[in-house]
Amino acid sequence: MHNYLVYKAKYNAGIKIFRRFIRVNSIISLMLVLMLLLVTGCGSTAGEVGTASDMLEKEDHIVVGFSIDSYLIERWQRDTDIFAAKLKELDSTAEINLQNANGDIDTQIQQIKYLIEKKVDVLVIVCIDSDSLSEVVTEAKSAGIPVIAYDRLIKNADVDLYISFDNEKVGTLMGEALLKAGLPNKKVMMLSGPNEDNNVSLVESGFNKVMASNDIEIVDTFHAPGWKAEEAATYLSEHITELNSVDAIMCGNDNIATNAIRTLSEARLAGKINIVGQDADLEACQRVVEGTQVMTVYKPVEKLAQAAAEYALALAKGEDLGVSTTMSDGSYDIPYYFLDPIAVTSENMDETVIASGFHLKEEVYMNVSN
Ligand code: BGC
Repeated sequence: MHNYLVYKAKYNAGIKIFRRFIRVNSIISLMLVLMLLLVTGCGSTAGEVGTASDMLEKEDHIVVGFSIDSYLIERWQRDTDIFAAKLKELDSTAEINLQNANGDIDTQIQQIKYLIEKKVDVLVIVCIDSDSLSEVVTEAKSAGIPVIAYDRLIKNADVDLYISFDNEKVGTLMGEALLKAGLPNKKVMMLSGPNEDNNVSLVESGFNKVMASNDIEIVDTFHAPGWKAEEAATYLSEHITELNSVDAIMCGNDNIATNAIRTLSEARLAGKINIVGQDADLEACQRVVEGTQVMTVYKPVEKLAQAAAEYALALAKGEDLGVSTTMSDGSYDIPYYFLDPIAVTSENMDETVIASGFHLKEEVYMNVSN
């Protein structure tokens, strides 16, 4: 019995010591865990950890959101290819998230919203409608994303940069080329682009000034919706009799010129009406050297795209652009960087379009025997 009592007392004391040991150790373990959490910072929520790593990614990996109207017209592939190449050359880790709206304004707005959600570092936009993006651009800007209006102005949106060519000068060059080629009846027709594209009114304004100061009448103007050249051609074929007294057609771009010339050939009027356009599309350059188009306006898009890539990177890094020229977007004066367009005729084709590498000589002169 005594043995049993002694044994029980020892047993109880043992249990007590064991329990105390466990308690003390738990406190120490708990303290160790807490210290570890404090040192590693793992006490924050999963969300905060995500934000921290996102921020790290943002710092060394710039993403440019590029929203483009469409690839309907030849030049835009060149614009985006050169932009992408220049961006990689300047920063090998930078990326483009390119969204093509296929000419649909609602799609373009949705795509820009998606790029905002994606938290791109800067947005570059070729707008479809200069009047419809002010709201979504404001959204981007309040999310801290700077915006570049590429080639076409976005109105009332206070973009960080508008980069383009001197579009009014494009129209002036077209008008001067037609005058030089001769306008005996003093009558011209205009097959222009859509009014939604701000460039259209700028080009027309330059063209109209030259016409007005030389007493030339613009007998008819058609605005091709969405730059659809087939619609301009259809309009022309429906108004073909008007051409009896018309000396020339000012075409909003070379694609419209291609379609207009096709319609003129069908009506056996090819070569009788002088044509001008812009973009220096390959077909237009071929026509210029063949003599079926008076001139095209060459806009060195490679320079535009390269400058835009540099500015996009600078804006993404929060740097000052140093662009002092401004233009009113209807509500705000915005930084405006512009390049000069060049009139191209058969006389200067070699030293402009060909010398710059825009087109190969053998392609431009493909149908001309030397
Ligand atoms: C550009 C032209 C182009 C047209 C159709 C205009 O805004 O200035 O170069 O041909 O859009 O894409």
